[in-house]
Parts: sequence; structure tokens; C-alpha cells
Amino acid sequence: MTLGPSLVRSSLLCFVVLSVVLFAGLARAFQRPFGDTSPVQKDEAAHKGSFQSSAPGFAIFSPPQYPGYSLRFRSASFCDPTVNVYTGYLDVDQGSKHIFFYFFESRRDPYNDDIITWIEGGPGGSTAIGMMMVMGPCKIDVSNSSTNGTLWNPHGWNKEANLLFLDQPVGTGFSFSDIGNTVETSEDAAKDIVAFFNVFFETFSKFKGAGLHLAGESYAGHFVPIFASEISDQNMEARNEGREEINLKSMIIGNGITDIMTEYPGRFEVLCGKGALSAPPKSTSECVRMRAALPRCQQRMLHSCRETFDAIDCLAAVKFCESQMPFLPDNNPYDISRICTNMEARLGGLWCYAEPEAIDAYLNLESTRAILGTTEDTFPFQNYSIISIPVNTLFNNRLDKWFPPVELHVGELLERGVKALIFTGVYDSVCPWPMNRDWVEQLAWSGGHAFRNSAWMTWEVDDKQAGELKSSGPLTLASVWGAGHMAAHDKPAEVFFLISRWINNIGLQF
Ligand SMILES: *[C@@H]1O[C@H](CO)[C@@H](O)[C@H](O)[C@H]1NC(C)=O
Ligand SMILES: *[C@@H]1O[C@H](CO)[C@@H](O)[C@H](O)[C@H]1NC(C)=O
Ligand SMILES: *[C@@H]1O[C@H](CO)[C@@H](O)[C@H](O)[C@H]1NC(C)=O
Repeated sequence: MTLGPSLVRSSLLCFVVLSVVLFAGLARAFQRPFGDTSPVQKDEAAHKGSFQSSAPGFAIFSPPQYPGYSLRFRSASFCDPTVNVYTGYLDVDQGSKHIFFYFFESRRDPYNDDIITWIEGGPGGSTAIGMMMVMGPCKIDVSNSSTNGTLWNPHGWNKEANLLFLDQPVGTGFSFSDIGNTVETSEDAAKDIVAFFNVFFETFSKFKGAGLHLAGESYAGHFVPIFASEISDQNMEARNEGREEINLKSMIIGNGITDIMTEYPGRFEVLCGKGALSAPPKSTSECVRMRAALPRCQQRMLHSCRETFDAIDCLAAVKFCESQMPFLPDNNPYDISRICTNMEARLGGLWCYAEPEAIDAYLNLESTRAILGTTEDTFPFQNYSIISIPVNTLFNNRLDKWFPPVELHVGELLERGVKALIFTGVYDSVCPWPMNRDWVEQLAWSGGHAFRNSAWMTWEVDDKQAGELKSSGPLTLASVWGAGHMAAHDKPAEVFFLISRWINNIGLQF
């Protein structure tokens, strides 16, 4: 099925958490396959698997310890000419599911630097949003000033880490299924993610053991804790069986949705308090009505989405809350400091920005698809779409956002030594700062008391205050001033500063 532009536009309220309510080179094929600087060890003894090659120029590796899985990849001259770049597919379940990835080596020291994996929100948002709009090695060129469609990003997070971008779940971006297999919950998606890492590290074996950070934004606040838990549990099995573990170091969540019980109080504080702007943006009368409705909204959510999980009642509770707490009518919901006058664009929020449409067009160009290896013979089913409405709908129909309570996963992971950096651009009304502040503060874990008692401080970049921050043990919570939902898009140097200190293990206590 192909999504025409009008359908995409009109359904865009679905993107990210807004969804709730509506519910409703020529690629230089594989240039340096197995040379000295290749991340892949050609030595088959070391690999105990077999390499083959296939059109269009993919090398294929099938590790015997993961029967039914193989990784197809090729080098691509794309987005960041200063590093080695690979694109390809993990073929799952004897090849019936295909998960697309982009891998950018670090600009610093690839074999010693960590790996950050970017998980986009949605559900159904293509990883290209992060890659070409938010924190990736390049930006889509919306100014028409480059000859190749992209501009190099000096603040790309591959400055100090290898970057892996995954189009997930299946059905998103360039990822697809031959036989209509769908993934409809985060827990199912997690199985493909773990398989991906297992096969990736067998194939790109020089990166085996590298520290891994699962990062993402928006709905990734739900995905990431579930994926990290799956990796952690698999590591426990690996330990018991004497297999190598995945070196999972941390979760990094920007403007996420994690604990649903803090969503509406957080939104209220942004719309009727000083959670985002220096004065409440909604009128007194609206705020009176919202304040009166909030306890009922919370009670109903608690009762039907948390204490018990009743799909019909939970959905009714959410619809009630949404009807009582509408977003601002004239502003970009992802950045309420900006007016978004385009009525059509406003529906989806995301289209208040110029980049998504440009990325969509760029990744549909034949010339780009040739570079990526996603020409028709490889990705045959439909045009690339930066947001998959079908995936978004499947997840919504399963009420994935409201179950399980993923903040509990974060607590368990902290106990197991997986760190967490939670940062939030303060102008967002979709995944607001007060919502994230509250769930992190309230989180139940053994260090919770110490965390709550530690002091807030402002953090600074180049002698300028960039936000507020609280940090204790493995957990850090930060606000990013002057930024919306896609914080690194708005404050690239500042957010990279946080990331750099985080991955290099330099304390965030200033
Ligand atoms: C972009 O620039 C090229 C060459 O300078 C020009 O031909 C093209 O019309 C421009 N496109 C837009 C959308 O401005
Ligand atoms: C694309 O062009 C821009 C400037 O025109 C340049 O900075 C960038 O490195 C180029 N990207 C690639 C992949 O060649
Ligand atoms: C796919 O995209 C191309 C290029 O934008 C367009 O010409 C074609 O009509 C699209 N195909 C479908 C089925 O939408």
C-alpha cells in the first residue's frame, strides 16, 4: 500500500504521542570490504560463518550461531564523507523480515569509541528523522545550498561515537516484510532489536564488546527501556551459558514518553503554568476547566490503565483526558515558542518543520536509493515514507503506549548497572519537561531517595546557561532551555555537550 501525501498529512496527528487521541554512489558498491581498515574481519575461522555477495553489491554474513538470520551490507558514500559509512539489512526469520540500518563510524576513534544506536519515535517514525534532522552526521539541505542534498553536521553525535540508525519496527522507513509479518508491540519489536545486535556484532566483529548506548526521542521513551531490558535479560542468559554479552552501558532519552501517569499533569503545567514559557499560554477560564478535570483524568487513567489494564476503559480515560487538555491551537505542539500557521501542517506538528518533507523526497530519489542500496530490487514494495501510518495504527490498536509501565523497566535497569540520561527540551507540549521531571523524580529504585535529595544545578556551555540538571549515581535528568521536542535540532552544541560528557564518563555534576 502506498500512502498518498494527503493521507499522510491528514493522519499526522498520529505521529508520536499525539496519536493517542485520534486513535484512530551510484554507490561504490562495497569498496573496502575486507581491507585492513574494514570493520569486518575476513578471517572466516574467527567468524565461523560464511560471507557471500549479492546484488546490488551487498556482502552477506550468516553467523551459524543465529540460524535464520543474516546481515547484508555495503559501503555507501552518504551523509558524512569523513568516515566509513555502511548501509544494509538484517534479514530475520529466514529472510521474511528485513530491518534496514545505517552505520556511521566515529569521527574520533571508531574501534575504541562506543556505539550509540538511535531509535526514532512514532511508533513508525523512520530513523532518518534523527539522522538527517536531529543529531546525525548530516542535515537535510532545506536551504538548497549544497550540491548533494545534505549538509555536514559539525555537532553530529558521531563526533565521538559510532552511530547506528535502525528503521524499526518492521514496516518503518526502508524496513519491510515480504509476507506481511507485522510487529505491533514494543515487546515484539525488542526481539528483532536483540537479534540485530547479536548478528551485527558477529559481522562487524571489530566492534564486538564496544559500549552500547540506546538513544532516541519521543516514543523511544517507551521503546528504549523495553529494548534495554530485553538485551539485559539476554545478557544474563549469555553469562550463564558462557557466551559473550552485549556491553549495554546506558539509555539516552530525549523528550520521551515513559510514565503515562505524568503525561497530563505535565501538559497542564506547560499550558497553565510556567513549565515552558514565562507566563501560562492558555486563558484563565480554560485553565480553570482543565484544573478541575485533571483529578478525574488521573483517577480514571490510574484505575483503568494502571491498577488494572482494561483496554476499553483505558482508552476511554485517555480520550477523556485528551478532550479536556487540548494543545495550543496556533502553536507548533513540539515547540510552543513558535507559531505554526499552516493549518494543514499544524495538524501533524512534525510538518511545522521543513525537514521531514525534504527528507522524504530526498530518500525517494532514485539517485539516493542507489547510494543506499534500496533500489526497487531491494526495497520493492512501496515508496519510502518518513512516517509509517500503518505501523503507527497497529501499535495504537494494541494500546502499546499504555502498557507495560516502562518506567519500572528503567528502575530495574538502573539496579543492574545500566545508566540513564533523560533530557528534555522545555518548549515541547507533546512530551513536556514537567512530565519527564516528575517521573524521573518519582521513580522507584534503590537510589531514588538519594536522587530526590540531590541538588538542582544549572549546566553551562561556553559560559552560557543551557538548562537545569540533577544527577546521582547512574541517573541524570536535564532540561534543555530554548529547545523543543527535537532538542538537538534546536540546540545542537548544547545537547552534544551533554552527550559527550555522558559517553566519555565525565561526570555531569558541575
Ligand atoms: C536549487 O538550486 C538549483 C541550482 O542552483 C536550482 O536549479 C533549483 O531550482 C533550486 N531549487 C529550489 C527549490 O530552489
Ligand atoms: C555535500 O555537500 C556539502 C556542501 O555542499 C558538503 O559539506 C558535504 O560534505 C557533502 N556531502 C557528501 C556526502 O559528499
Ligand atoms: C513513488 O515516488 C515517485 C517519485 O516521487 C513517484 O513518481 C511515484 O508516483 C510514487 N509511486 C507511488 C506508487 O506512489
